[in-house]
Amino acid sequence: METSTYKSKEAVISLKGVDAGYGDTVILSNVNLEIWRGEITALLGGSGSGKSTLLKTIIGLLPPIKGEVRLLGEDIYGMDDLTRASFMKRIGMLFQYGALFGSQSNLDNVALPLREHTNLPEEVVREMVRMKLELVGLKGLENRLPADVSGGQRKRVALARAAILDPEIIFCDEPSAGLDPIVAAGLDDVLRRFQRLFGMSMVIITHELESIKILADRVVMLADGKIQAVGTVDDLSQSDNERVYDFFHRIAPHDDGEDGQGSVLERVSGEWAREQ
Ligand SMILES: Nc1ncnc2c1ncn2[C@@H]1O[C@H](COP(=O)(O)OP(=O)(O)OP(=O)(O)O)[C@@H](O)[C@H]1O
Ligand SMILES: [Mg+2]
Repeated sequence: METSTYKSKEAVISLKGVDAGYGDTVILSNVNLEIWRGEITALLGGSGSGKSTLLKTIIGLLPPIKGEVRLLGEDIYGMDDLTRASFMKRIGMLFQYGALFGSQSNLDNVALPLREHTNLPEEVVREMVRMKLELVGLKGLENRLPADVSGGQRKRVALARAAILDPEIIFCDEPSAGLDPIVAAGLDDVLRRFQRLFGMSMVIITHELESIKILADRVVMLADGKIQAVGTVDDLSQSDNERVYDFFHRIAPHDDGEDGQGSVLERVSGEWAREQ
């Protein structure tokens, strides 16, 4: 590999022979998956297909029933609590509902991980938070409470907080859920910007084909208790796997389905261009 002229891909996440689930109940079986550094990977699948279960297994919240899970090369389930707590600074999480503290300003919310994990002086903390908030397009909203900004802005505050320690990888569970398409697209832009600027790896759970089309370098499709397909949007749009095909056609009810391959994606990207 070293002699290759191409930069070889480095796995930030690696699962081998993993059964993920709860107690004896296997939700996803025999998961073999590698997620590459610097890429945005989308986890896709219907409600109950196991997306959150897989995410919890990857980030150390749900021990696998079987198999091996490595995050940034480390065996997270083999670590003691202290080591794991310190290791988790390298990971950012953007939860579905943002999980901001309502009684604290946006600035204080974003500053939280800095105050918890570093001994930086207050002026430095504030300046770092201001810079991150500016990067997500929220300059000037530092002193507002989360309740006094829009839903889309709250997501950006949560993203700024997830990114404040410059993590190597950020996990987002349905970042654009509940947002209108324009606001969701704005959030997608911010996520893309973070990935480009910092080379961050991202794993994003989403149902939105628009988001996937804009964001995902790679898509992992879950259904029927296993991974059905892994590949680029183009790969998957040409997949003859029934479950994958269903997804790409189900969400385009007006698709006449005659020419099949790629037409849905072209239409979505056309709509996207018109909205801009
Ligand atoms: N704590 C739990 N204990 C037992 N079963 C659970 C638990 N959490 C989830 N499940 C089950 O695991 C399966 C997968 O759930 P999961 O939450 O991973 O789906 P999902 O793909 O994230 O769905 P959604 O899109 O609705 O969030 C479901 O059948 C669910 O009922
Ligand atoms: Mg879920």
